[in-house]
Amino acid sequence: MLLLRLSGMNEMDKLLVSGGKRLEGEIYVSGAKNAALPILAATILADHPVILSNMPHLHDVTTTMDLLCRMGVIITIDEDMNIEIDSTSITNYYAPYELVKTMRASILVLGPLLGKYGKATVSLPGGCAIGTRPVDLHINALKKMGAKIDISKGYINADVNGRLQGVTIDFPIVTVTGTENVIMAAVLAEGKTIIHNAALEPEVVDLANFLNTIGANIVGAGTNTIEIEGVNSLTGGEYKILPDRVEAGTYLVAAAITGGSIKLTNALPRIMTAVLDKLRLANADIVCGDDWIELNMHGNRPKAVNIETSPYPGFPTDMQAQLLALNVVSEGRAIIQENVFENRFMHVQEMVRMGADIKINGNQAISNGVEQLYGAPVMATDLRASASLILAALIAKGTTQVDRIYHVDRGYERIEEKLSQLGAEIKRVHG
Ligand code: UD1
Repeated sequence: MLLLRLSGMNEMDKLLVSGGKRLEGEIYVSGAKNAALPILAATILADHPVILSNMPHLHDVTTTMDLLCRMGVIITIDEDMNIEIDSTSITNYYAPYELVKTMRASILVLGPLLGKYGKATVSLPGGCAIGTRPVDLHINALKKMGAKIDISKGYINADVNGRLQGVTIDFPIVTVTGTENVIMAAVLAEGKTIIHNAALEPEVVDLANFLNTIGANIVGAGTNTIEIEGVNSLTGGEYKILPDRVEAGTYLVAAAITGGSIKLTNALPRIMTAVLDKLRLANADIVCGDDWIELNMHGNRPKAVNIETSPYPGFPTDMQAQLLALNVVSEGRAIIQENVFENRFMHVQEMVRMGADIKINGNQAISNGVEQLYGAPVMATDLRASASLILAALIAKGTTQVDRIYHVDRGYERIEEKLSQLGAEIKRVHG
């Protein structure tokens, strides 16, 4: 058994950012966290080893590997950092609270464990900094497929007599990991499962493509109706994880907010249309190829842009905080409306401490662009909020200390190295 630990990662780490440098250069975008996590969970279903490449080195990935290893999965890493996963040695079907509390996406093991082994005990994820985030839709769908599920002492205890059954699931709202859990539960189920109002996110498509590579029969991923014809077993195989559109978007904003220019490689503009359109409206000059994006702000101050978040292909909630950071230093007034999560404005008060002019009105953040932000000690509260504070710090006068950056390590690979590579003055201090 091999357990990975990210070196240098510490709960007390802080980032010190001295703002005012115009960012310029080239960045390689890492593999997508939100594709890597369900695909790692889906390896539970494979009857032979799976080799995954373009796997991002993130704390959430390490946590998922830790979870799989505790179940008995064997993970090895080759010299090119490809990850080989052998799930044939699973001996327990348990996701403990101590891991689930650090990463809600641990719920993604529920569907595949039930689909393959007919049983699972998974800690119920608690609340979250951005909202209550229940998992009722996952549970109801799995029950409809024949699972017996009871919740006691904070755990979801699930089992099924024989195989799960293919059924029709109508999600009342779009849920990304809910759709993924049902897909993973359905690939080895008896008969056909049809998901209506499925999530269209590219990461859902990546999961389906991976599962089809190892022998599943899934059609319609990327549309709102997905059909999964159950098969008796899956093989193994090799798969390359999709590039991360949120990491890519965050670096585009980093360049835009400083008036700079950037080229992203291993980036897929075709899955980033909503974000690229808004950055163009903010006055960024953007040129794209199939797998690269160039943004040039030509030293100009951006224009503030109105945004409403919604499921894909709408503007992603995971880019909302970063665009607010851009708006607060841009020319003009703008409204950002958060429609996906009920409490995703925790970064606002921290930005206000840096001199931003933002008012919250229900699910809207209304900003009036200021000429200058000022460095201050600020605290990260969730993954994308932390990224937005780092972005604000890049343009602030003086030094900003961003605390609790373990949140950022969950989802951004070597953020301080990548930003330094673009000319930012940023350093990690170990607490
Ligand atoms: C995923 C992403 C996250 C992103 C979010 C929305 C992963 C690992 N995480 O999270 O980065 O911000 O999609 O794009 O892919 N809901 C319920 N009941 C449920 C499930 C969801 O009420 O059983 C609600 C949520 O509270 C939220 C909305 O549905 O208001 C959408 O959430 P969902 O798409 O499920 O988010 P996640 O899959 O958790």
